[in-house]
Amino acid sequence: MSLIRLDKFISERTEYSRSQIKQLAAKGSVTVGGVAVKKTDMKIDPDSDKIAVLGNIVASQRFRYILMNKPQGYVCSTNDNDGECVLELVPPELRTKNMFPAGRLDKDSMGALLITDDGELAHKMLSPKSHVPKIYIVKLDRPFQNNYINKFERGITISGGERCLPARVKAVENAEKLAIIEICEGKYHQVKRMFSAVGNHVDILMRVSLGGLVLPEKLGKGECMELLHKDVENLFKPSDFDLFCAKFSQNFSANLINNQL
Ligand code: URA
Repeated sequence: MSLIRLDKFISERTEYSRSQIKQLAAKGSVTVGGVAVKKTDMKIDPDSDKIAVLGNIVASQRFRYILMNKPQGYVCSTNDNDGECVLELVPPELRTKNMFPAGRLDKDSMGALLITDDGELAHKMLSPKSHVPKIYIVKLDRPFQNNYINKFERGITISGGERCLPARVKAVENAEKLAIIEICEGKYHQVKRMFSAVGNHVDILMRVSLGGLVLPEKLGKGECMELLHKDVENLFKPSDFDLFCAKFSQNFSANLINNQL
């Protein structure tokens, strides 16, 4: 059991600064095990004490991991000057001071986005060495051609002469302009540039999985959910592209089309 200061515990896990916590405690708004406390330098056990601020329980986990179903129109940035940021969509009770989007989805892209304050995990996930697979469903401007499959599997060269790692792609059954693609890297506008290299154009792009973590259907556009440790571990597990196509592609396709409306 390692004890830590109450104000340190809260400030590391919420948006509150130590001085704000002091003011809240003075008003009786900070509780330990349901009892209001005034001394914010008291020691607590992060594993067993239930801490709450203004009635909201402070999660004991040191870092926070949030899965967002990013809507179109928001930028993956922490800078307000870039436009409306995805962070604005994180509900206040889930926010912490140092959160940032781990990885990028374009402003007009949607789907699974990890938001966290765990810099080490984000670095590991985004490192080109990790090869975390990501699955996207796209609506194309022109019908899918079967020759994309081999071209993408061999590693296609995109604009600027960059060579992509082998990727898997498949048409969605009964939808000639919808395709599912899995890539294991994250070059700038990669999926759009891959389809453009084969003479097509991505009209809509939705990321539907990050590693072994599939975007839950119940998570609506713009909604967030906190991930548990076991979900976070899933990020580093391989995805099963064939299973994904068989099990989820029809629902996600319907979702993508509905999103357009
Ligand atoms: N590839 C793209 O082109 N855009 C994204 O948002 C993500 C992957």
